[in-house]
This record gives sequence, C-alpha cells and structure tokens, in this order.
Amino acid sequence: MKRILLIVGGGIAAYKSAELIRLLRKRGHAVRCVLTEGGSHFVTPMTLAALSEDKVYTTLWDLTDEAEMGHIQLSRQADLIVVCPVTADLMARMAAGVADDLATTLLLATDTPVLAAPAMNVRMWTHAATVRNVAQLRGDGITVLEPDEGAMACGEYGPGRLPEPVAIAEAIDRALGVSDRLAGRHVLVTAGPTHEPIDPVRYLANRSSGKQGFAIAGALAALGARVTLVAGPVMLPTPAGVDRVDVETAREMAGAVEAALPADVAVMVAAVADWHVAVAVQKVKKGAMPPVLTLAENPDILATLASAANRPPLVIGFAAETERVIEHAAAKRLRKKADWIVANDVSGDVMGGDANTVHIVREGGVESWERLPKATVATRLADAIADALET
Ligand code: CTP
Repeated sequence: MKRILLIVGGGIAAYKSAELIRLLRKRGHAVRCVLTEGGSHFVTPMTLAALSEDKVYTTLWDLTDEAEMGHIQLSRQADLIVVCPVTADLMARMAAGVADDLATTLLLATDTPVLAAPAMNVRMWTHAATVRNVAQLRGDGITVLEPDEGAMACGEYGPGRLPEPVAIAEAIDRALGVSDRLAGRHVLVTAGPTHEPIDPVRYLANRSSGKQGFAIAGALAALGARVTLVAGPVMLPTPAGVDRVDVETAREMAGAVEAALPADVAVMVAAVADWHVAVAVQKVKKGAMPPVLTLAENPDILATLASAANRPPLVIGFAAETERVIEHAAAKRLRKKADWIVANDVSGDVMGGDANTVHIVREGGVESWERLPKATVATRLADAIADALET
C-alpha cells in the first residue's frame, strides 16, 4: 500500500479526480486529498472525503490541523504527491515557488516526488508562458504528464484535456514503481507486421508500425505481468520489463507463439501476412516478363491458438477493418474463437499514427473508445484485462 497526497486544482476536469481516487483505492493505495480554493468550485470536500475515506484539507489557516498535523507532515507522510488537475495558473505558481495557499505551500515544503496531470484550454497549454513553466517544472524534477488531445469542455479541439484517469493511475503506479494487478500472470503479445520474402532481397509487407502492440506490452508489464512480446520487423525500443522475441515471417511468428506457451492471456496485435511466397533462391532478375508470384496461405496464429488444447484462458484478437467495422469484428471473433476482438477502423491515418479509435467486441456487447492516444488504449486494455482476470 502506498500513500498518495492528491491535490485537486480548479478546472472542469476536477470531477475526474473522483474517478482517479476510486481507481487508486482499487489498486490498494491510500489517498488523502487537498482541495484548492479553485477546485472547491468544481468538486466538494464531501465527495473527496467519501471516496478517499479520509479528511480533506482545504486551508493553510486551519489551526487545529496545524496543531494536529502541520502541512509539512501532510506531504512527508506521502509516497507521492499528485496534482490532478493542475491548471496553467497552479503550474505558474509552482514554477515560481509561490506558497500562498495550502497546496503551493505543501509543494514548496516537500522533497516527496510530484506528478502533475494538466487540464486546460488548448491555447493556454500551447501559450509560451505555459510551455516555459512546464519546462521549468520538468527541470525541477516534477513529472508533468502530457495532456490528451480531443474535444474540450470549452468547445475547442486540441491538446489540453486531462489524460484518462486510468492512464493517470498507471503513470502513478509507474512513478511509485509498483503495480501488481497482473503479478504472476504470463501474457503473450504479438506486434508489428510480418515480412514474407520473395527472394534474398525483396519481401511482401504491410503498413503496421507495431506501436499499438508495443504500448500494450509495456502497459501489461507496468501492471506486473511477465510479458513475452513476439515482434515482427519494427524499429521500436523494447518496453521496460518486457521479454522480446524478434521474428520476420508469419511462420516464424507462429513458432515463437507456440514456444512461449503456456500463457494466461494472449493479445494478438500483429498484422500477420495472410500469405507467403515460394521464395526464389536467387535474386529475381528483370526479364522480358514481370514475374508471377505464387502465394500460399500462412497459418492463422490467432485461430490456431484459440482452438489449441493449451489455449490461454483469455485470447484477444485485433481486427483492422476499413468498413462495417463492428459487424466484421463480431464475425471474426466467432470465426477465430477469440474471447475479445479489439476492432479499429484503418480507413484513415491510424497505421503508423499515434491515435486510435477502437471497439472492444465481447460476448456481452461492444464498448467503444474514441480517438485515444495509442498509449491510453494500451493502459485501458491492460486494466480491462486485469479486471477480467480478477472476476
Ligand atoms: N492473425 C493471426 N494470424 C494470421 C492472420 C491474422 O494471428 N495469419 C490475427 C491478427 O494478429 C489479429 C487478427 O488475427 O489479431 C486479425 O485478423 P485479420 O487479418 O483482420 O483477419 P483475416 O482472417 O485475415 O480477415 P480479413 O479477411 O479481414 O483479412
């Protein structure tokens, strides 16, 4: 159990701190809240007290508390201080070392690590003053999370939205160096494209970047899972705590997946080539006629795994579709005998990009996650997997 001191700043996103407290408690942490004057216009001390099951601190001039527990103790007793949401104004005051209320005094009087989750209008986030303050805070050793991009309460669009509470909870666990929701579990992840050689110098490939699969492997490892990542040819660093097996072709990937069993969960994110070519021993020369490639079917790794005797209890497939996304994904789920299909619409610029809209197709129905950064899709999916294993 870790102790988190949560400072709730002013801003519409303050209501999401309630969800954050719930998630942190679920992860076994104790949460004690400080509510700023600005924050108190958006959430009540009563809400935070009920969710944290602790007293909520609001003012520096509460003499009883100063006698019982000075503001210095309040921060010393915490393993991590989290400011959520942190506003442009609060960051400016933190960067300047102002100490004119309980929150800023605590932040100045502590050497406990601090993590801040910003939420503000896009123009405020991109303003030179805020950019300067964020750089200053990061230079001072404070972890300032990147805000999400999307539609805002003020009607504008861009970066500035508070990251999803589950992503903040994940970042908190990383900052604390703890998370054991998936401890003792082995998760197998495939990611990236496969390359199917045509001759010694050419191959068939696809546009998969591997980013989503790598992010998922990292998010699962952050929850304490032992992760085997079977990766097709991609130029990505191995996420912390992940065992990586590099492969080139679909048949090599199938072999590596089988060799990695048994597993509790399999998440098949790879864009596996459906066919391979009868490989020419020598480089195919440019002749009078263009060569004809004869394709043969590759093993379906997901379908084979989902029907195997040593099938992992939870098998998750991905489906990249360009039309009738959910309908096709639902059919794919049944055809391949996967428990869940994570479907995404790749008719836009998803492949290689950083954002993703996905639909989680399960037996009970469909849940859609709209336009999220791939990192957030990863943390949400890892949390959903942990939820599924706990029930
Ligand atoms: N998959 C796999 N092995 C293959 C092909 C696909 O394991 N040879 C997995 C992918 O990792 C992914 C899911 O199956 O989890 C996606 O399959 P997809 O290629 O979309 O399905 P297909 O059966 O090829 O259907 P489609 O006709 O839509 O291409």
